[in-house]
Amino acid sequence: MTELPSPAETSAANGGLPVPTVVSQAEVEALVTADVALHVTREALVAQAAGQVSQPDPWHLEIPDRQGEVHIKGAHIHGAAHYAAKLATGFYGNKDQGLPTGSGLSIIADAATGFPVVIALDNGYLTDIRTGAAGAAAADALAREDVGTAAVIGTGVQGVRQMAALLQVRKPSRLLVYGLDRGRAEEFAARMRLLHDWTVEVAGSAEEAVRQADVVVTATPSREALVHGAWLKPGAHVTAVGADMEGKRELALSVLERADVVAADDVAQCLRVGELQYAAAAGIAASLPLVALGDVIAGRTAGRTSAEQITVADLTGIGAEDAAVGSALADALAARRT
Ligand SMILES: NC(=O)c1ccc[n+]([C@@H]2O[C@H](COP(=O)([O-])OP(=O)(O)OC[C@H]3O[C@@H](n4cnc5c(N)ncnc54)[C@H](O)[C@@H]3O)[C@@H](O)[C@H]2O)c1
Repeated sequence: MTELPSPAETSAANGGLPVPTVVSQAEVEALVTADVALHVTREALVAQAAGQVSQPDPWHLEIPDRQGEVHIKGAHIHGAAHYAAKLATGFYGNKDQGLPTGSGLSIIADAATGFPVVIALDNGYLTDIRTGAAGAAAADALAREDVGTAAVIGTGVQGVRQMAALLQVRKPSRLLVYGLDRGRAEEFAARMRLLHDWTVEVAGSAEEAVRQADVVVTATPSREALVHGAWLKPGAHVTAVGADMEGKRELALSVLERADVVAADDVAQCLRVGELQYAAAAGIAASLPLVALGDVIAGRTAGRTSAEQITVADLTGIGAEDAAVGSALADALAARRT
């Protein structure tokens, strides 16, 4: 195993001050697994809903001529040993050059002194895994126990992460995949068949997939509604992860209007940049059955109360989740040295 310097090791070259440990994506992947991410992301959602997090608004930069967007998020969960600041990018023209859409890095710092202790050069892995974990936490809190068919709209990085994470909490026997590009959807379906013993089919349309699904996950940068309320089966759960800034949208208002529970990872943030921005603009947000996802996870608020209800999770990605997985990484690095 690679010998690592201690997080916050001091250096004479740095005037005796702490020098952060720089870790690669491979090291981060080994130390912050999907199970670790699910555990700490749940805790972060619960803490956020309880008001136990200091979390500034996300910073968003758009570079339209490169189809680029840059997000900076961060937080301190009260009482935690670390705080974190995280950069995540999505440059949708990258695929034309054979590059991944997303990248990023995290800075994890000591909450007692402020000094950075870890710089994770993880190419966005921590963002990807915590977003998957939030999806799993939402499905676990809100979906029926007996999920037969799942549907995923979007066949990119989050499509993969969300399906892997869903399998942590539910075991569907069938998956329907819809993507803009049929060839990519077929490749995605082949990858999904390796994850679990389920029947995986490529659907001809989002509607065809959604109409049959007990759990629907949308994971695209769409700016138009992809899912409509009339398509939802009784008992369906919908998790939307794609809308994380103004202008992005995956769900029609009719989805929110049909829901018996609409859970937000951060209610205020979702009203600004999530699916709920459209409910706010239409003046119907106050009439929705809106709850904080962390309150449902903690049992402070009721989630689904019958098998026939429709539930929705609006996930914009919160700084508390970034702080939680960052802190887990710093702890794992420290534990590895002892
Ligand atoms: N909520 C969060 O915490 C969070 C975290 C990470 C990413 N995201 C967001 O999730 C979205 C997807 O991210 P990703 O990393 O998977 O990107 P990606 O580029 O890897 O995949 C995007 C997929 O969406 C498909 N797509 C694009 N427009 C579509 C449309 N109109 N209809 C159907 N499919 C469409 C693309 O073909 C591709 O398969 C982005 O909007 C990203 O910003 C949110």
